[in-house]
Amino acid sequence: MIYRTLGRSGLKVSAISLGSWRTFGVSVDQETTRACMEAAYEAGINFFDGAEAYGSGAAERAMGEVLRSAGWPRDTYIISSKVIRVGDRPTQGGLSRKHLVEACEAALRRLGVDYLDLFFCHRPDPDTPLEEIVHTMNELIERGKIFYWGTSEFSASDIQAMYAIAERDGLVGPTMEQTNHSMLHRKRVEGELLPLFKRYGLGTTIYSPLAVGLLTGKYNDGLPPDSAYAKGADWLRKRLTQENIEKVRQLTAIAEEIGICMSHLALAWCLKNPNVSTAIIGASRPEQVKENAAAADMTDRLTPEIMERIERILSPSIEKAAG
Ligand SMILES: NC(=O)c1ccc[n+]([C@@H]2O[C@H](COP(=O)([O-])OP(=O)(O)OC[C@H]3O[C@@H](n4cnc5c(N)ncnc54)[C@H](OP(=O)(O)O)[C@@H]3O)[C@@H](O)[C@H]2O)c1
Repeated sequence: MIYRTLGRSGLKVSAISLGSWRTFGVSVDQETTRACMEAAYEAGINFFDGAEAYGSGAAERAMGEVLRSAGWPRDTYIISSKVIRVGDRPTQGGLSRKHLVEACEAALRRLGVDYLDLFFCHRPDPDTPLEEIVHTMNELIERGKIFYWGTSEFSASDIQAMYAIAERDGLVGPTMEQTNHSMLHRKRVEGELLPLFKRYGLGTTIYSPLAVGLLTGKYNDGLPPDSAYAKGADWLRKRLTQENIEKVRQLTAIAEEIGICMSHLALAWCLKNPNVSTAIIGASRPEQVKENAAAADMTDRLTPEIMERIERILSPSIEKAAG
């Protein structure tokens, strides 16, 4: 495993990390959750990602059960939660001071820990002033409830405004943004967020680096019955386009040529980007965790020539324009 600092903070996060959306406490039983987290910890993964919304708290309860019994020293792992909504009542969602504080306390109870290392605003809340969010996050840091805070899928202008508030009021600003990034979805990390990496050293905990498994190559020849896309909602299946599958087939050929598997190619490609602090994978089986964790050591296989060939597959329009 390799470790990177989370943005401009001093926190050392494993380049591959493990998340709990759709899986732990929801579609994956407790024994398999334990096996996945243990496989991760053994492979050097030190960051586990949660959220109040995942199974309405079930994912964090499942991870908490593992953390309670595993006996891992608290200073050897990083745990996160994300806040946006946990119930239907008006006060059970949003980013108000009330919900931020209550969501943090509830996550601590579910996970069975005394503090969260990372706490994210899971989505923007147009009803809460950014000042209220920045001030409350700073208070949570001062009270020792969280160490670092960040955002998920916030616009660059909102993140910039939050840095400005923090600077003006002498508070701790956001450390990281959690955003979708993979070979098939790269607009924000390679575009909108770039000025924030340069100016503020914003870190990123990117999610769905395998496009929910599409970039493992498992859909190249059909829909495996026990897979995320077979079981998933319509919005997910819509991403299973012929164009995407054809791209992954061509990428799989490159992976085979350089002697690695498709998931390694996809994850190593993400990690070639220095603005990616960690790539959060998901897993329904411990074998997937073991396989994916090894990708952190594969970035050297992606030589400039291989990166160029990958680019021609991902962005054929660039080639057409150039040609
Ligand atoms: N902030 C946000 O809004 C947000 C949104 C989404 C996710 N996240 C975070 O990011 C984490 C990862 O997201 P993700 O689950 O979309 O990540 P992903 O790594 O792109 O996809 C994970 C899924 O792909 C399949 N898979 C993984 N490795 C495999 C392998 N080696 N071989 C075959 N299949 C494999 C598994 O599904 P099957 O076995 O079921 O096919 C697994 O559940 C989440 O758990 C969550 O913590 C955050």
